[in-house]
Amino acid sequence: MDYTHGTLDEAQMLENPREQLAVWLNDARDQIEPNAMTVSTVAQNGKPSSRVVLLRGLSEAGLTFYTNYESRKGAQINATGAVCLSFWWGALERQVRIEGSIAKVSSDESDAYFASRPLESQLASAASPQSQVVTRTELEARVTALRLEYPVAVPRPAHWGGYVVAPEYMEFWQGRKARLHDRIAYSLQEGVWQRSRLAP
Ligand SMILES: Cc1cc2nc3c(=O)[nH]c(=O)nc-3n(C[C@H](O)[C@H](O)[C@H](O)COP(=O)(O)O)c2cc1C
Repeated sequence: MDYTHGTLDEAQMLENPREQLAVWLNDARDQIEPNAMTVSTVAQNGKPSSRVVLLRGLSEAGLTFYTNYESRKGAQINATGAVCLSFWWGALERQVRIEGSIAKVSSDESDAYFASRPLESQLASAASPQSQVVTRTELEARVTALRLEYPVAVPRPAHWGGYVVAPEYMEFWQGRKARLHDRIAYSLQEGVWQRSRLAP
């Protein structure tokens, strides 16, 4: 298909790419799971892996998502401290790529977020040894046991919490007619965001 939804102009893009991302997230609010982003990590042997998570916060500190710190992605993040994130909003013909360093959010922030989740989500996160081999029967038995122990609210397990990605590079892509797409890249140079247009 030809992409004709919009165009990008360096001069009209916001100076701070985080604010530009906030505008694009708002534009995507009617899409299915507009906050779904692919997180790519790298193992110590150089092999990359990717999976989708939900963006749960966008602030001056960066982009926050929540997961199991002992999962496959958690182990790779803890080893390398680096990730790449990407969004794709098909109906808007837009993509965003973000590279940066990643760190755990404070335990207070993770506690507050975990406490805000519905009981069923708390039970699932606490019961799941994410990325390990399990049987469905074991998994459901763990949920049942936890539900008996914590019928109202589950305490946050220490191995579950947030990560915040501090962007160093952000790239906005808008599909254009005849594959002559627009790409505007921002790169952080000594604390200042520099903008440039990249060839599609
Ligand atoms: C739309 C969507 C949203 C997801 N959101 C999350 C999330 O916020 N946190 C999470 O840990 N996994 C989430 N997942 C599951 C992950 O994609 C992945 O299967 C899981 O985190 C285990 O990844 P790993 O084994 O690479 O660590 C989501 C999956 C999809 C498709």
